Amino acid sequence: MALEGKHVLICISGGIAAYKITLLVRMLVKSGAEVQVLMTPAAENFVSKLTLSTLSKRAVYSDFYGADGTWNNHVEFALWADAILVAPCTANTLAKMVHGICDNLVIATYMSAKSPVFIAPAMDLDMYRHPSTKQNLEMAEDFGHFIIPAEIGELASGLVGEGRMAEPEAILEKLHDYFGEAEKDKSLSGKTVLITAGPTYEALDPVRFIGNHSSGKMGFSLAEEAAKRGAKVILISGPSAQTAHHQNIEIHRVMSAKEMYAEVFRNYDRVDIAIASAAVADYAPKEIATEKIKKNDDSLTVELVKNPDILKTMGEKKTHQFLVGFALETQNEAENAKGKLKNKNLDMIVLNSLRDEGAGFQQDTNKIRIFTKNEEKSFLLKSKREVAKDILNFVEEQISK
Ligand SMILES: Cc1cc2nc3c(=O)[nH]c(=O)nc-3n(C[C@H](O)[C@H](O)[C@H](O)COP(=O)(O)O)c2cc1C
Repeated sequence: MALEGKHVLICISGGIAAYKITLLVRMLVKSGAEVQVLMTPAAENFVSKLTLSTLSKRAVYSDFYGADGTWNNHVEFALWADAILVAPCTANTLAKMVHGICDNLVIATYMSAKSPVFIAPAMDLDMYRHPSTKQNLEMAEDFGHFIIPAEIGELASGLVGEGRMAEPEAILEKLHDYFGEAEKDKSLSGKTVLITAGPTYEALDPVRFIGNHSSGKMGFSLAEEAAKRGAKVILISGPSAQTAHHQNIEIHRVMSAKEMYAEVFRNYDRVDIAIASAAVADYAPKEIATEKIKKNDDSLTVELVKNPDILKTMGEKKTHQFLVGFALETQNEAENAKGKLKNKNLDMIVLNSLRDEGAGFQQDTNKIRIFTKNEEKSFLLKSKREVAKDILNFVEEQISK
């Protein structure tokens, strides 16, 4: 049932395991899915378009242009897809995906897509073990893609080890589970969630700023998780290298605390839940020099003035919103977090301590404690994606009370 009517876009790249995709196409079609196959030019050496188009009941494409000069519209393919599966994913295609080397129809479609991406790598033993492959798979995972790990077995080269593409049945199961979960877990459907993320940069002159080390990972993980649960997400992010890949997420990029303030309150009235995870600068230079400050004197004094307190104002303006703040403390953690909860009129606060190894800025992991007026809960060190789940589970418990 989970796959009934779902649009699955399969991108085949040039590995020997391509022949197994014919079986997968057949199984997907039998499960009620609609399947569109795209191929890299190299993949055409491994499996025929005729077989794949017959099984999928759709024309199969590998070029940007048809022989008659028509454009095989990668944007349309991308928007059509409910899920993209790259299988087999060669070392080459994986590298192009994570580095944005957009020189064929498969990569252009992948880069235009908003739907979840599943990657089933297939390589020979040493290729799979190579540090570049490992790093590229990690990057793909950081992008939020689902990796279907290669299995151990006999490889086409005759070597035995890890690198064999997962069997079609296992890939089908992953897609089935994904759509099954997605249907089941829409616990935030109908809700609008505002999330602030990342640092703010406070300009000193046209080239310099005062900033902080926040990466935005926590806020982006929260946004992805809320979107997966069916919420409409307004993500207001300071300068961050993070990207979000879900159609429910609307990103507003800002630079300074004042810009973040303006963007938050442009949207605040229409949200049900607001989560302020951004590390907003408390102070900003009183004056921004119009020209680059020259290195003339031995010392330089910059006068800083207080920025508007976004979280406090959110607490003051709160009407119906469930408001969550973050506290990053270095001492008297629990006391300070509870103080902030009360003073800023929050419904919940998430504390992470810089004293905990693996928690805080620039880390992929976080260790949190959550406080409400009457409750307190500690969590173990986890990936920020898992922490996002814990936070949203807690929020959902609170709003259902
Ligand atoms: C017989 C044969 C089998 C291959 N199998 C694989 C493979 O399993 N995995 C892989 O990463 N590359 C494999 N390659 C190398 C790729 O085909 C090659 O890197 C190609 O440039 C990939 O292009 P694409 O990623 O655009 O499809 C194989 C090449 C040949 C000739």
